[in-house]
Amino acid sequence: MFDIQATPGGVGAFVSGIDLAHDVNGNVAGALRAALGEHGVLFFRDQDIAPEDHIAFAEKFGEININRFFAKHPDHPKIAMVVKEPDQRDNIGGGWHTDHSYDTEPALGSVLVAREVPARGGDTLFANMYAAYDALSDGLKATLEGLNAVHSSRHVFGTESTSRAAMDTKGRIGNAEAATQDAVHPVIVSHPISGRKALYVNGGFTTHFEGWSKEESEPLLKFLYAHASKPEFTYRFNWQNGSVAFWDNRCTWHYAVNDYHGDRRIMHRITIEGCPLVA
Ligand code: SIN
Repeated sequence: MFDIQATPGGVGAFVSGIDLAHDVNGNVAGALRAALGEHGVLFFRDQDIAPEDHIAFAEKFGEININRFFAKHPDHPKIAMVVKEPDQRDNIGGGWHTDHSYDTEPALGSVLVAREVPARGGDTLFANMYAAYDALSDGLKATLEGLNAVHSSRHVFGTESTSRAAMDTKGRIGNAEAATQDAVHPVIVSHPISGRKALYVNGGFTTHFEGWSKEESEPLLKFLYAHASKPEFTYRFNWQNGSVAFWDNRCTWHYAVNDYHGDRRIMHRITIEGCPLVA
């Protein structure tokens, strides 16, 4: 039977004694789903997981959401390529964010498999949005519980994105015309697996509070971003070939550290469909 140990940081757990390509029957998937809801991200080491196994594992948790913007694996279009080549400067995911919050039914989470890691660097930081919520004052919790926020993909992936145009991600991010999604979600969500309350805004995709202007929203969002990324809510995961991380987008953020210029980093990502979020 596999073992689940919380990381020494503020989020996530290591799962050992499991072979993701062969051991994940219905009961195991149920236990992993519950652990995901509790810890927010599950880390696995030394996995020998072919692309077909990666897809089969992800499908145990829901339908696959084929990424609209990332380059696809040439033989397995359900797998998005998260790649940085030695001659490129910008990476994908190099800022705190949670994936797909711009969708009306935000993705449950992603399963990221390390295929080629740099000699040093290329870690991913994760942050715990349950802990971020829990640590707020009762007064601010009450204010946030009455609010919704607007999330968008347009300023990041769309034709109007200045950051994307300036980024060195040619061949890795495209399909800007598909970036039409805006969505409104509660600022404090009830997590679909655990039922716990989690802070659900993020610096990547949240544009403003519903009914507030962007200028009015900015100071409070800035406070929340600084608060939620405090070291005590985070864990920094160092990838090795064969490492796998399975994170839940509804209670965590992540940040891909871009500190390995001149080296290649190749990751395979599968994103799993989620459900509407409720306050
Ligand atoms: C992402 O934001 O999905 C990429 C994470 C990573 O490459 O570590």
